[in-house]
Amino acid sequence: MAWQPGLPVHGTREWVIVVGDGESGLPAAAKEAGERLGIDLDRLLEVQRETGFTPSAGATVAYPLLTGDVAEVLLVGAGDGSGKDLRHAGAAIARYGRGKDELTTIVAEGIDDAALQAFAEGVVLGSFAYTQKTVDPGKPAVGRITVTDGSDAARQPAIDRGVVVGRTGWVARQLAITPSNEKDPAWLAARSTELAAATGLEATVWDEKQLAAEGFGGILAVGSGSTRPPRFIRLDYVPAGATRKTPYVVLVGKGITYDTGGLSLKPREGMVSMKRDMTGGGSVIATMSALRELGAQVKVTGLICAAENMPSGTAYRPDDVIRHYGGRTTEVKNTDAEGRLVMADGLAYAVNELKPDVLIDIATLTGAIKVSLGSMLYGGMFATDDALADNLADAGRISGEELWRMPLPAEYEDLISTPIADSVNSSKGPGSITAALFLKAFTGDIPWAHLDLSSIAESPSDRFEYSTGATGAGARLLTTWLTSDAPTSGIG
Ligand code: BES
Ligand code: MN
Ligand code: ZN
Repeated sequence: MAWQPGLPVHGTREWVIVVGDGESGLPAAAKEAGERLGIDLDRLLEVQRETGFTPSAGATVAYPLLTGDVAEVLLVGAGDGSGKDLRHAGAAIARYGRGKDELTTIVAEGIDDAALQAFAEGVVLGSFAYTQKTVDPGKPAVGRITVTDGSDAARQPAIDRGVVVGRTGWVARQLAITPSNEKDPAWLAARSTELAAATGLEATVWDEKQLAAEGFGGILAVGSGSTRPPRFIRLDYVPAGATRKTPYVVLVGKGITYDTGGLSLKPREGMVSMKRDMTGGGSVIATMSALRELGAQVKVTGLICAAENMPSGTAYRPDDVIRHYGGRTTEVKNTDAEGRLVMADGLAYAVNELKPDVLIDIATLTGAIKVSLGSMLYGGMFATDDALADNLADAGRISGEELWRMPLPAEYEDLISTPIADSVNSSKGPGSITAALFLKAFTGDIPWAHLDLSSIAESPSDRFEYSTGATGAGARLLTTWLTSDAPTSGIG
Protein backbone atom coordinates (compact mmCIF):
# COMPACT_ATOMS: atom_id res chain seq x y z
CA MET A 1 0.00 0.00 0.00
CA ALA A 2 1.37 3.34 -0.95
CA TRP A 3 0.42 6.89 -0.05
CA GLN A 4 0.39 9.21 -3.05
CA PRO A 5 0.85 12.96 -2.50
CA GLY A 6 -1.44 14.79 -4.94
CA LEU A 7 -3.68 13.01 -7.45
CA PRO A 8 -1.73 10.47 -9.49
CA VAL A 9 -1.22 11.60 -13.07
CA HIS A 10 -2.05 8.19 -14.43
CA GLY A 11 -4.76 6.63 -12.33
CA THR A 12 -5.52 2.96 -12.48
CA ARG A 13 -8.49 1.48 -14.31
CA GLU A 14 -10.45 1.36 -11.07
CA TRP A 15 -11.00 4.36 -8.85
CA VAL A 16 -12.33 4.12 -5.34
CA ILE A 17 -13.88 7.12 -3.64
CA VAL A 18 -14.27 6.83 0.12
CA VAL A 19 -17.44 8.74 0.91
CA GLY A 20 -18.16 10.22 4.35
CA ASP A 21 -21.30 11.47 6.08
CA GLY A 22 -20.35 15.16 5.89
CA GLU A 23 -21.86 17.90 3.64
CA SER A 24 -21.56 16.43 0.16
CA GLY A 25 -19.70 13.46 1.60
CA LEU A 26 -17.22 13.52 -1.26
CA PRO A 27 -13.53 14.06 -0.47
CA ALA A 28 -12.23 17.37 -1.84
CA ALA A 29 -9.89 15.59 -4.23
CA ALA A 30 -12.81 13.65 -5.71
CA LYS A 31 -13.91 16.76 -7.59
CA GLU A 32 -10.65 16.93 -9.49
CA ALA A 33 -10.73 13.20 -10.08
CA GLY A 34 -14.27 13.50 -11.42
CA GLU A 35 -13.21 16.19 -13.85
CA ARG A 36 -10.38 14.06 -15.01
CA LEU A 37 -12.69 11.05 -15.47
CA GLY A 38 -15.27 13.18 -17.20
CA ILE A 39 -18.03 12.43 -14.70
CA ASP A 40 -19.95 14.52 -12.21
CA LEU A 41 -19.28 12.63 -8.98
CA ASP A 42 -21.70 14.82 -6.99
CA ARG A 43 -24.47 13.84 -9.35
CA LEU A 44 -23.38 10.20 -9.31
CA LEU A 45 -23.46 10.09 -5.51
CA GLU A 46 -26.87 11.78 -5.47
CA VAL A 47 -28.29 9.19 -7.84
CA GLN A 48 -26.74 6.35 -5.88
CA ARG A 49 -28.17 7.76 -2.65
CA GLU A 50 -31.61 7.89 -4.21
CA THR A 51 -31.34 4.25 -5.15
CA GLY A 52 -30.44 3.28 -1.60
CA PHE A 53 -26.69 3.76 -1.12
CA THR A 54 -25.78 5.19 2.27
CA PRO A 55 -22.20 6.03 3.23
CA SER A 56 -22.35 3.80 6.31
CA ALA A 57 -19.00 2.17 7.04
CA GLY A 58 -18.04 -0.33 4.38
CA ALA A 59 -21.17 0.06 2.20
CA THR A 60 -20.16 -0.11 -1.46
CA VAL A 61 -21.63 0.62 -4.83
CA ALA A 62 -19.74 0.13 -8.09
CA TYR A 63 -20.41 2.35 -11.08
CA PRO A 64 -19.12 1.06 -14.41
CA LEU A 65 -17.83 3.65 -16.90
CA LEU A 66 -18.37 2.87 -20.53
CA THR A 67 -15.83 5.27 -21.98
CA GLY A 68 -12.20 6.18 -21.44
CA ASP A 69 -9.49 4.30 -19.62
CA VAL A 70 -11.33 3.87 -16.37
CA ALA A 71 -13.48 0.78 -16.08
CA GLU A 72 -15.25 1.40 -12.80
CA VAL A 73 -15.73 3.89 -10.00
CA LEU A 74 -16.48 2.45 -6.58
CA LEU A 75 -18.13 4.51 -3.87
CA VAL A 76 -17.33 3.23 -0.37
CA GLY A 77 -18.94 4.50 2.81
CA ALA A 78 -16.58 5.89 5.47
CA GLY A 79 -19.31 6.18 8.10
CA ASP A 80 -18.41 8.82 10.68
CA GLY A 81 -14.75 8.82 9.64
CA SER A 82 -13.63 7.14 12.89
CA GLY A 83 -10.84 4.57 12.89
CA LYS A 84 -13.35 1.79 13.37
CA ASP A 85 -15.45 2.89 10.39
CA LEU A 86 -12.43 3.44 8.16
CA ARG A 87 -11.16 -0.04 9.06
CA HIS A 88 -14.46 -1.40 7.79
CA ALA A 89 -14.17 0.72 4.64
CA GLY A 90 -10.63 -0.55 4.00
CA ALA A 91 -11.80 -4.14 4.31
CA ALA A 92 -14.68 -3.51 1.89
CA ILE A 93 -12.24 -2.08 -0.67
CA ALA A 94 -9.97 -5.11 -0.32
CA ARG A 95 -12.92 -7.41 -0.99
CA TYR A 96 -13.91 -5.41 -4.07
CA GLY A 97 -10.29 -5.41 -5.23
CA ARG A 98 -9.86 -9.18 -5.19
CA GLY A 99 -8.38 -10.32 -8.51
CA LYS A 100 -7.45 -6.76 -9.53
CA ASP A 101 -3.87 -5.59 -10.00
CA GLU A 102 -4.27 -2.11 -8.69
CA LEU A 103 -6.73 0.40 -7.22
CA THR A 104 -6.48 4.15 -6.71
CA THR A 105 -8.30 5.29 -3.61
CA ILE A 106 -9.29 8.83 -2.67
CA VAL A 107 -9.92 9.58 0.99
CA ALA A 108 -11.05 12.77 2.73
CA GLU A 109 -8.45 15.42 3.34
CA GLY A 110 -7.65 15.77 7.02
CA ILE A 111 -8.36 12.15 7.97
CA ASP A 112 -6.11 11.73 11.01
CA ASP A 113 -3.20 9.32 11.30
CA ALA A 114 -5.08 6.91 13.55
CA ALA A 115 -7.94 6.64 11.06
CA LEU A 116 -5.57 6.28 8.11
CA GLN A 117 -3.72 3.54 9.97
CA ALA A 118 -6.99 1.76 10.72
CA PHE A 119 -7.92 2.06 7.04
CA ALA A 120 -4.67 0.27 6.11
CA GLU A 121 -5.35 -2.42 8.73
CA GLY A 122 -8.76 -2.97 7.15
CA VAL A 123 -7.25 -3.33 3.68
CA VAL A 124 -4.79 -5.96 4.91
CA LEU A 125 -7.38 -7.92 6.90
CA GLY A 126 -10.01 -7.71 4.15
CA SER A 127 -7.42 -9.22 1.79
CA PHE A 128 -7.07 -12.33 3.94
CA ALA A 129 -8.13 -15.65 2.47
CA TYR A 130 -7.35 -19.24 3.33
CA THR A 131 -8.27 -22.18 1.15
CA GLN A 132 -7.05 -25.59 0.10
CA LYS A 133 -9.61 -25.71 -2.68
CA THR A 134 -8.11 -27.11 -5.86
CA VAL A 135 -11.16 -26.18 -7.95
CA ASP A 136 -12.23 -22.51 -8.12
CA PRO A 137 -9.91 -21.43 -5.31
CA GLY A 138 -11.08 -17.79 -5.65
CA LYS A 139 -9.32 -14.63 -6.70
CA PRO A 140 -6.02 -13.46 -5.22
CA ALA A 141 -5.79 -10.35 -3.07
CA VAL A 142 -5.55 -6.97 -4.82
CA GLY A 143 -1.97 -6.36 -5.95
CA ARG A 144 -1.54 -2.75 -4.92
CA ILE A 145 -3.58 0.04 -3.43
CA THR A 146 -2.61 3.67 -3.84
CA VAL A 147 -4.18 6.09 -1.36
CA THR A 148 -4.39 9.85 -1.73
CA ASP A 149 -6.30 12.84 -0.41
CA GLY A 150 -5.02 15.06 -3.24
CA SER A 151 -2.82 17.08 -0.86
CA ASP A 152 0.97 17.23 -0.71
CA ALA A 153 1.08 15.61 2.72
CA ALA A 154 3.45 12.70 3.35
CA ARG A 155 1.39 10.05 5.11
CA GLN A 156 3.26 6.82 4.35
CA PRO A 157 4.27 6.13 8.01
CA ALA A 158 0.64 5.82 9.17
CA ILE A 159 -0.07 3.43 6.32
CA ASP A 160 3.04 1.39 7.03
CA ARG A 161 2.08 1.07 10.67
CA GLY A 162 -1.41 -0.03 9.68
CA VAL A 163 0.01 -2.65 7.35
CA VAL A 164 2.19 -4.09 10.13
CA VAL A 165 -0.64 -4.13 12.70
CA GLY A 166 -2.98 -5.61 10.10
CA ARG A 167 -0.37 -8.23 9.36
CA THR A 168 -0.30 -9.35 12.99
CA GLY A 169 -4.02 -10.04 12.64
CA TRP A 170 -3.36 -11.84 9.38
CA VAL A 171 -0.61 -14.04 10.88
CA ALA A 172 -2.73 -14.90 13.94
CA ARG A 173 -5.67 -15.77 11.69
CA GLN A 174 -3.49 -17.88 9.42
CA LEU A 175 -2.12 -19.84 12.40
CA ALA A 176 -5.61 -20.35 13.86
CA ILE A 177 -7.28 -21.40 10.61
CA THR A 178 -4.63 -24.00 9.74
CA PRO A 179 -6.17 -27.46 10.21
CA SER A 180 -4.80 -29.67 12.95
CA ASN A 181 -3.66 -32.49 10.68
CA GLU A 182 -1.01 -29.94 9.72
CA LYS A 183 -0.79 -28.01 12.99
CA ASP A 184 0.54 -29.72 16.12
CA PRO A 185 2.68 -28.35 18.97
CA ALA A 186 5.94 -28.96 17.06
CA TRP A 187 4.49 -27.16 14.04
CA LEU A 188 3.58 -24.17 16.19
CA ALA A 189 7.11 -24.17 17.62
CA ALA A 190 8.59 -24.30 14.10
CA ARG A 191 6.46 -21.35 12.94
CA SER A 192 7.55 -19.46 16.07
CA THR A 193 11.28 -20.00 15.51
CA GLU A 194 10.90 -19.08 11.84
CA LEU A 195 9.10 -15.83 12.63
CA ALA A 196 11.55 -15.07 15.45
CA ALA A 197 14.52 -15.41 13.10
CA ALA A 198 12.85 -13.11 10.58
CA THR A 199 11.82 -10.42 13.08
CA GLY A 200 14.75 -10.09 15.49
CA LEU A 201 13.58 -12.19 18.43
CA GLU A 202 15.26 -14.90 20.42
CA ALA A 203 13.38 -18.22 20.45
CA THR A 204 13.67 -21.13 22.90
CA VAL A 205 11.62 -24.34 22.67
CA TRP A 206 11.16 -26.98 25.39
CA ASP A 207 10.43 -30.49 24.11
CA GLU A 208 8.63 -33.13 26.19
CA LYS A 209 11.85 -34.36 27.85
CA GLN A 210 12.84 -30.87 28.95
CA LEU A 211 9.28 -30.22 30.11
CA ALA A 212 9.45 -33.35 32.29
CA ALA A 213 12.88 -32.47 33.65
CA GLU A 214 11.70 -29.02 34.72
CA GLY A 215 8.31 -30.02 36.09
CA PHE A 216 5.80 -28.55 33.62
CA GLY A 217 3.12 -30.96 34.91
CA GLY A 218 0.11 -29.18 33.42
CA ILE A 219 1.40 -29.02 29.85
CA LEU A 220 2.62 -32.63 30.07
CA ALA A 221 -0.67 -33.95 31.46
CA VAL A 222 -2.79 -32.26 28.79
CA GLY A 223 -0.41 -33.40 26.05
CA SER A 224 -0.13 -36.97 27.32
CA GLY A 225 -3.05 -38.36 25.30
CA SER A 226 -1.57 -37.36 21.96
CA THR A 227 1.13 -39.04 19.86
CA ARG A 228 2.22 -35.49 18.99
CA PRO A 229 4.06 -34.29 22.11
CA PRO A 230 3.65 -30.87 23.76
CA ARG A 231 5.98 -27.90 23.52
CA PHE A 232 6.65 -24.79 25.56
CA ILE A 233 7.79 -21.88 23.41
CA ARG A 234 9.55 -18.73 24.60
CA LEU A 235 10.11 -15.65 22.43
CA ASP A 236 12.14 -12.69 23.73
CA TYR A 237 12.12 -9.10 22.52
CA VAL A 238 14.56 -6.57 23.94
CA PRO A 239 14.27 -3.06 22.47
CA ALA A 240 17.43 -1.33 21.28
CA GLY A 241 18.78 0.82 24.11
CA ALA A 242 16.94 -1.10 26.84
CA THR A 243 18.13 -0.46 30.38
CA ARG A 244 17.31 -2.04 33.74
CA LYS A 245 14.50 0.50 34.02
CA THR A 246 12.81 -0.57 30.78
CA PRO A 247 9.38 -2.00 31.70
CA TYR A 248 9.07 -5.75 31.26
CA VAL A 249 5.88 -7.47 30.07
CA VAL A 250 5.25 -11.21 29.78
CA LEU A 251 2.49 -12.56 27.52
CA VAL A 252 1.27 -16.15 28.05
CA GLY A 253 -0.83 -17.73 25.29
CA LYS A 254 -2.96 -20.88 25.21
CA GLY A 255 -1.65 -23.10 22.45
CA ILE A 256 -4.01 -26.08 22.35
CA THR A 257 -3.53 -27.15 18.73
CA TYR A 258 -6.65 -29.31 18.96
CA ASP A 259 -9.15 -29.65 21.79
CA THR A 260 -11.20 -32.85 21.66
CA GLY A 261 -11.91 -32.47 25.39
CA GLY A 262 -9.70 -35.53 26.05
CA LEU A 263 -11.33 -38.38 28.00
CA SER A 264 -14.09 -35.93 28.98
CA LEU A 265 -14.76 -35.98 25.24
CA LYS A 266 -16.66 -33.13 23.62
CA PRO A 267 -19.82 -33.92 21.66
CA ARG A 268 -19.47 -33.64 17.87
CA GLU A 269 -20.91 -30.11 17.64
CA GLY A 270 -18.68 -28.84 20.42
CA MET A 271 -15.51 -30.22 18.90
CA VAL A 272 -15.85 -28.65 15.47
CA SER A 273 -13.64 -25.55 15.16
CA MET A 274 -11.39 -26.57 18.05
CA LYS A 275 -8.42 -26.32 15.69
CA ARG A 276 -8.42 -22.69 16.70
CA ASP A 277 -7.99 -23.38 20.43
CA MET A 278 -4.44 -22.03 20.03
CA THR A 279 -5.74 -18.58 19.08
CA GLY A 280 -4.23 -16.99 22.21
CA GLY A 281 -0.82 -18.54 21.56
CA GLY A 282 -0.99 -17.61 17.87
CA SER A 283 -1.78 -14.03 18.80
CA VAL A 284 1.23 -13.93 21.11
CA ILE A 285 3.45 -15.21 18.27
CA ALA A 286 2.01 -12.67 15.82
CA THR A 287 2.34 -9.80 18.32
CA MET A 288 5.96 -10.65 19.11
CA SER A 289 6.77 -10.66 15.39
CA ALA A 290 5.81 -6.98 15.00
CA LEU A 291 7.52 -5.42 18.03
CA ARG A 292 10.88 -4.65 16.45
CA GLU A 293 9.42 -3.24 13.25
CA LEU A 294 7.10 -0.97 15.25
CA GLY A 295 9.85 0.01 17.69
CA ALA A 296 8.11 -1.08 20.90
CA GLN A 297 9.82 0.51 23.92
CA VAL A 298 9.09 -2.29 26.42
CA LYS A 299 10.87 -5.58 26.99
CA VAL A 300 8.50 -8.42 26.11
CA THR A 301 8.62 -12.19 26.54
CA GLY A 302 6.00 -14.35 24.84
CA LEU A 303 5.29 -17.81 26.27
CA ILE A 304 3.16 -20.30 24.34
CA CYS A 305 1.86 -23.41 26.13
CA ALA A 306 1.31 -25.86 23.28
CA ALA A 307 -0.35 -29.27 23.56
CA GLU A 308 -2.92 -31.40 21.77
CA ASN A 309 -5.80 -32.53 23.99
CA MET A 310 -6.65 -36.09 22.90
CA PRO A 311 -8.30 -39.13 24.50
CA SER A 312 -6.22 -42.33 24.48
CA GLY A 313 -4.71 -45.03 26.67
CA THR A 314 -1.98 -42.64 27.71
CA ALA A 315 -4.27 -39.67 28.29
CA TYR A 316 -4.62 -37.94 31.68
CA ARG A 317 -7.89 -38.66 33.46
CA PRO A 318 -10.53 -37.08 35.63
CA ASP A 319 -9.44 -37.51 39.30
CA ASP A 320 -5.73 -37.24 38.44
CA VAL A 321 -3.70 -34.81 40.51
CA ILE A 322 -1.24 -32.65 38.57
CA ARG A 323 1.82 -30.85 39.93
CA HIS A 324 2.37 -27.62 38.01
CA TYR A 325 5.60 -25.77 37.36
CA GLY A 326 6.70 -24.40 40.73
CA GLY A 327 4.82 -27.08 42.69
CA ARG A 328 1.16 -26.02 43.03
CA THR A 329 -1.28 -28.94 42.62
CA THR A 330 -4.58 -29.34 40.78
CA GLU A 331 -7.18 -32.05 40.96
CA VAL A 332 -8.58 -32.75 37.50
CA LYS A 333 -12.33 -33.22 37.35
CA ASN A 334 -12.81 -32.52 33.66
CA THR A 335 -10.10 -33.07 31.06
CA ASP A 336 -11.91 -30.56 28.83
CA ALA A 337 -10.92 -27.75 31.21
CA GLU A 338 -7.40 -28.19 29.87
CA GLY A 339 -6.57 -24.60 28.97
CA ARG A 340 -6.13 -23.46 32.56
CA LEU A 341 -3.84 -26.45 33.25
CA VAL A 342 -1.33 -25.53 30.55
CA MET A 343 -1.66 -21.80 31.26
CA ALA A 344 -0.93 -22.36 34.97
CA ASP A 345 2.52 -23.71 34.06
CA GLY A 346 3.21 -20.74 31.80
CA LEU A 347 2.12 -18.21 34.43
CA ALA A 348 4.13 -19.94 37.18
CA TYR A 349 7.21 -20.00 34.93
CA ALA A 350 6.79 -16.26 34.30
CA VAL A 351 6.41 -15.46 38.00
CA ASN A 352 9.25 -17.71 39.20
CA GLU A 353 11.82 -17.20 36.43
CA LEU A 354 11.07 -13.89 34.70
CA LYS A 355 9.53 -11.62 37.38
CA PRO A 356 7.95 -9.17 34.92
CA ASP A 357 6.35 -5.84 35.83
CA VAL A 358 3.14 -6.88 34.08
CA LEU A 359 1.73 -10.30 33.28
CA ILE A 360 -0.90 -10.92 30.62
CA ASP A 361 -2.47 -14.17 29.55
CA ILE A 362 -4.61 -14.68 26.49
CA ALA A 363 -6.72 -17.74 25.74
CA THR A 364 -9.88 -19.18 24.28
CA LEU A 365 -10.44 -20.44 27.78
CA THR A 366 -14.18 -20.92 28.25
CA GLY A 367 -17.39 -21.35 26.30
CA ALA A 368 -19.05 -19.49 29.18
CA ILE A 369 -17.57 -16.14 28.11
CA LYS A 370 -19.62 -16.46 24.91
CA VAL A 371 -22.73 -16.85 27.04
CA SER A 372 -21.78 -13.72 29.02
CA LEU A 373 -20.73 -11.46 26.15
CA GLY A 374 -22.28 -12.95 23.01
CA SER A 375 -20.41 -13.28 19.75
CA MET A 376 -18.02 -10.92 17.95
CA LEU A 377 -18.51 -7.83 20.08
CA TYR A 378 -16.31 -8.01 23.18
CA GLY A 379 -13.53 -10.19 24.50
CA GLY A 380 -13.59 -10.86 28.25
CA MET A 381 -10.95 -9.18 30.43
CA PHE A 382 -10.15 -9.89 34.07
CA ALA A 383 -7.54 -7.76 35.81
CA THR A 384 -5.99 -7.27 39.24
CA ASP A 385 -4.90 -3.70 38.40
CA ASP A 386 -7.22 -0.90 37.33
CA ALA A 387 -4.64 1.04 35.30
CA LEU A 388 -3.73 -2.12 33.40
CA ALA A 389 -7.40 -2.78 32.70
CA ASP A 390 -7.85 0.80 31.47
CA ASN A 391 -4.76 0.71 29.24
CA LEU A 392 -5.86 -2.58 27.69
CA ALA A 393 -9.44 -1.35 27.22
CA ASP A 394 -8.07 1.73 25.42
CA ALA A 395 -5.99 -0.48 23.13
CA GLY A 396 -9.13 -2.54 22.52
CA ARG A 397 -11.08 0.47 21.32
CA ILE A 398 -8.23 1.73 19.14
CA SER A 399 -7.50 -1.65 17.58
CA GLY A 400 -11.12 -2.68 17.05
CA GLU A 401 -10.72 -5.72 19.34
CA GLU A 402 -12.79 -4.44 22.23
CA LEU A 403 -12.73 -5.81 25.77
CA TRP A 404 -15.32 -5.90 28.53
CA ARG A 405 -14.01 -6.11 32.08
CA MET A 406 -15.32 -8.96 34.23
CA PRO A 407 -15.08 -9.28 38.04
CA LEU A 408 -12.68 -11.45 40.07
CA PRO A 409 -14.62 -11.87 43.33
CA ALA A 410 -12.73 -13.70 46.08
CA GLU A 411 -16.15 -14.92 47.28
CA TYR A 412 -16.20 -17.46 44.44
CA GLU A 413 -12.81 -18.96 45.28
CA ASP A 414 -14.58 -21.66 47.30
CA LEU A 415 -16.00 -23.00 44.05
CA ILE A 416 -12.55 -24.19 42.93
CA SER A 417 -11.41 -25.64 46.25
CA THR A 418 -11.02 -29.38 46.89
CA PRO A 419 -9.67 -31.39 49.85
CA ILE A 420 -7.41 -33.30 47.45
CA ALA A 421 -5.26 -30.50 45.97
CA ASP A 422 -4.68 -26.73 45.90
CA SER A 423 -7.50 -26.28 43.35
CA VAL A 424 -9.88 -28.24 41.18
CA ASN A 425 -9.97 -27.53 37.44
CA SER A 426 -13.72 -27.51 36.90
CA SER A 427 -16.67 -26.58 39.03
CA LYS A 428 -20.27 -25.42 39.06
CA GLY A 429 -21.10 -21.75 38.71
CA PRO A 430 -19.85 -18.85 36.61
CA GLY A 431 -17.46 -20.70 34.31
CA SER A 432 -15.37 -17.80 33.00
CA ILE A 433 -14.91 -16.29 36.45
CA THR A 434 -13.93 -19.55 38.14
CA ALA A 435 -11.45 -20.21 35.31
CA ALA A 436 -9.97 -16.74 35.86
CA LEU A 437 -9.78 -17.30 39.63
CA PHE A 438 -8.01 -20.60 39.00
CA LEU A 439 -5.33 -18.78 36.99
CA LYS A 440 -5.06 -15.92 39.49
CA ALA A 441 -3.51 -18.29 42.04
CA PHE A 442 -0.50 -18.66 39.71
CA THR A 443 0.20 -14.97 39.18
CA GLY A 444 1.93 -14.12 42.47
CA ASP A 445 1.51 -10.43 43.22
CA ILE A 446 2.37 -9.25 39.72
CA PRO A 447 -0.20 -6.93 38.10
CA TRP A 448 -2.07 -9.34 35.87
CA ALA A 449 -4.76 -9.38 33.19
CA HIS A 450 -6.45 -12.44 31.76
CA LEU A 451 -8.06 -12.19 28.33
CA ASP A 452 -10.69 -14.83 27.57
CA LEU A 453 -11.32 -14.34 23.87
CA SER A 454 -13.57 -17.30 22.96
CA SER A 455 -16.30 -14.71 22.29
CA ILE A 456 -14.37 -13.07 19.43
CA ALA A 457 -12.31 -15.98 18.09
CA GLU A 458 -14.68 -17.05 15.32
CA SER A 459 -16.57 -14.93 12.82
CA PRO A 460 -19.83 -16.37 11.44
CA SER A 461 -19.40 -14.57 8.09
CA ASP A 462 -17.23 -12.30 5.94
CA ARG A 463 -18.02 -9.17 7.85
CA PHE A 464 -16.12 -5.95 8.55
CA GLU A 465 -12.42 -6.81 8.79
CA TYR A 466 -13.18 -10.50 9.45
CA SER A 467 -13.47 -13.46 7.16
CA THR A 468 -15.59 -16.50 7.97
CA GLY A 469 -14.00 -18.73 10.61
CA ALA A 470 -11.02 -18.12 12.86
CA THR A 471 -10.35 -14.43 13.55
CA GLY A 472 -6.95 -14.73 15.24
CA ALA A 473 -8.31 -12.40 17.91
CA GLY A 474 -5.97 -10.52 20.21
CA ALA A 475 -2.91 -9.84 18.07
CA ARG A 476 -3.98 -6.36 16.98
CA LEU A 477 -5.03 -5.57 20.53
CA LEU A 478 -1.73 -6.63 22.11
CA THR A 479 0.37 -5.04 19.36
CA THR A 480 -1.53 -1.77 19.72
CA TRP A 481 -1.14 -1.83 23.50
CA LEU A 482 2.58 -2.71 23.54
CA THR A 483 3.44 -0.05 20.96
CA SER A 484 1.35 2.69 22.59
CA ASP A 485 3.17 5.62 24.21
CA ALA A 486 3.33 4.17 27.72
CA PRO A 487 1.73 0.72 27.94
CA THR A 488 2.62 0.23 31.62
CA SER A 489 1.82 3.76 32.84
CA GLY A 490 0.04 3.90 36.18
CA ILE A 491 0.33 0.15 36.77
CA GLY A 492 1.37 -1.28 40.14
N1 BES B 1 -11.46 -24.53 24.36
C1 BES B 1 -12.56 -24.62 25.23
C2 BES B 1 -13.33 -23.30 25.35
C3 BES B 1 -14.10 -22.89 24.12
C4 BES B 1 -15.38 -23.37 23.91
C5 BES B 1 -13.56 -22.00 23.24
C6 BES B 1 -16.08 -22.98 22.79
C7 BES B 1 -14.26 -21.60 22.12
C8 BES B 1 -15.51 -22.09 21.89
C9 BES B 1 -12.10 -25.00 26.63
O1 BES B 1 -10.98 -25.81 26.69
C10 BES B 1 -13.22 -25.78 27.24
O2 BES B 1 -13.51 -26.83 26.76
N2 BES B 1 -13.82 -25.20 28.28
C11 BES B 1 -14.89 -25.82 28.96
C12 BES B 1 -14.62 -25.72 30.43
C13 BES B 1 -15.48 -26.60 31.27
C14 BES B 1 -15.23 -28.05 30.96
C15 BES B 1 -15.18 -26.30 32.73
C16 BES B 1 -16.16 -25.06 28.59
O3 BES B 1 -16.12 -23.84 28.46
O4 BES B 1 -17.18 -25.71 28.39
MN1 MN C 1 -11.43 -27.87 26.50
ZN1 ZN D 1 -9.70 -25.64 25.12
